[in-house]
Amino acid sequence: MPQKRKGECILNVLAINGSPHPGGNTAHMLRSVLSVCEEAGMETAVFQAGGRPVRGCMACGGCERHPGRCAIDDWMNELYPLMLGADAIVLGSPTYFSDVSPEMKAVIDRCGFIAARTGKPFGRKVGAAVCAVRRAGALTTLGTMQNFLLMNDMILPGSTYWNMSLSLRPGDYEKDDEGMRTMRRLGENLVWLLQKIHADE
Ligand SMILES: Cc1cc2nc3c(=O)[nH]c(=O)nc-3n(C[C@H](O)[C@H](O)[C@H](O)COP(=O)(O)O)c2cc1C
Repeated sequence: MPQKRKGECILNVLAINGSPHPGGNTAHMLRSVLSVCEEAGMETAVFQAGGRPVRGCMACGGCERHPGRCAIDDWMNELYPLMLGADAIVLGSPTYFSDVSPEMKAVIDRCGFIAARTGKPFGRKVGAAVCAVRRAGALTTLGTMQNFLLMNDMILPGSTYWNMSLSLRPGDYEKDDEGMRTMRRLGENLVWLLQKIHADE
């Protein structure tokens, strides 16, 4: 990882993996995007959300009473500050019954609600979403994640196809040439956009 020099701004990109497989297709898709960011000198990190015990938003109002924190004191309170500190956030999920995994939905609902109670703290961060899909439901899955990013005042780069890979078992993503090209281009566009936004810093 590149070292930070005094006065130098190193941009950082956080990926959130909603798949329970840390070595699965979603993970490798995220890795492809992050590799491009690293080649451009950016810092990257992956937060493994999938596979952790998960609870949905209780709509308890706790984040209104204690801004910046969820009343359910679990890994979400570890993740949220990382999201605040990132210049770009890349969400990744497998397609589960034509939508995101429960862990990714919990991130969206709970971090989204904490953010909604504290203004728009993700404003003009760069965002992107990727999904692994065996056959059907990719656009709904991407839409769920992109809707979260867009209503949080974030700016999204595109790619040359929708940000998906046709994959069932771990390793299938690497057999999907178009999926891999799409991830690479997404990474390039993300880097391009981040550098434009932060050009004056
Ligand atoms: C509970 C469950 C539901 C799934 N639902 C769908 C689906 O609706 N459409 C689809 O094309 N694939 C579906 N799949 C397949 C996964 O999306 C696919 O295996 C994906 O590559 C898994 O990504 P991962 O390796 O990152 O976990 C489902 C898999 C599971 C376990």
